[in-house]
Amino acid sequence: MKGILLAGGSGTRLRPITQVLSKQLLPIYDKPVIYYPLSLLMLMGVRDILLISTAEACPLFERLLGTGEAWGLRLQYAVQQQPEGIAQALLIGGEFLSGEGCCLILGDNLLFGDGVEAELRAAAEPQSGATIFACQVRDPQRYGVVSFAADGAVLDIEEKPQPPCSPYAVPGIYCYDGEAVSRAGKLRPSARGEYEITDLNRAYLHADKLRVRRFGEGVHWFDVGTPDSLLEASNFVQAVSHRQGLLIGYPEVLAWRQGWIEDAALAALVDGMVGEYAQRLRELAAGIKPWGRSEGV
Ligand code: TTP
Repeated sequence: MKGILLAGGSGTRLRPITQVLSKQLLPIYDKPVIYYPLSLLMLMGVRDILLISTAEACPLFERLLGTGEAWGLRLQYAVQQQPEGIAQALLIGGEFLSGEGCCLILGDNLLFGDGVEAELRAAAEPQSGATIFACQVRDPQRYGVVSFAADGAVLDIEEKPQPPCSPYAVPGIYCYDGEAVSRAGKLRPSARGEYEITDLNRAYLHADKLRVRRFGEGVHWFDVGTPDSLLEASNFVQAVSHRQGLLIGYPEVLAWRQGWIEDAALAALVDGMVGEYAQRLRELAAGIKPWGRSEGV
């Protein structure tokens, strides 16, 4: 499975912070926002990744992440000229995917908690159709919303319904089979002028090829579209990091845990780095902290 990391958009709700800087380059606690969804792709075992962003931000992401080789990845970059919708990422990425299945993840989403790894890995298994997720939230009307029948079957998915038809919002992580590009090619822009990911998911639903996996209460999902959610995500990562010593969103750790880089390569990566981020990695590389290959994401 390949990965598409969509990190464009306008970031209007975060102005003026995003006046000259991309939302996905802002910090969540000790690292850029983009590290978190990138780490989720790595957790799923995805190594071939296309990062899509604006013409202005693409070179900055490239400076930050490079080819990905140091983390055992193959990163490529593509420009979305205008923010014309999330589903457009599949059209931009059509050649890169060349008929393979993919996981599309939004560059401002963070997921952490009980069962996340198992759920994501299950969704990444090669299978026909699409797998999306559902999370119970207080303000579902800001997102795509899934409604379920009493027996758990999916009834419908609606984009930003007012009032919301259920408390289950769809987080920005979607797994598709090789048909996603051709299905996305049949979408028409919505009333707000976007190629809606919800319309693509509905196309899979109507073809009876959509699975929705519900995350339990132990899963924390943040998108960082507003000043409050950016701060909340930072506070959350800081609390988990201080209290439990867990390393959330460290690509170096994911690469090392998966065996994509050796102990010596991890040590070499942290050699010469300074700051608290590097200190945590240094402790890991030196075996000082008891973080095993299966703890933290
Ligand atoms: P949004 O948060 O819906 O949009 P935005 O980032 O432009 O912010 P705002 O609403 O405040 O103007 O986008 C969710 C994610 O998807 C975010 O990471 C940006 C990305 N995105 C694109 O890269 N291209 C697009 O065309 C759209 C709609 C979103």
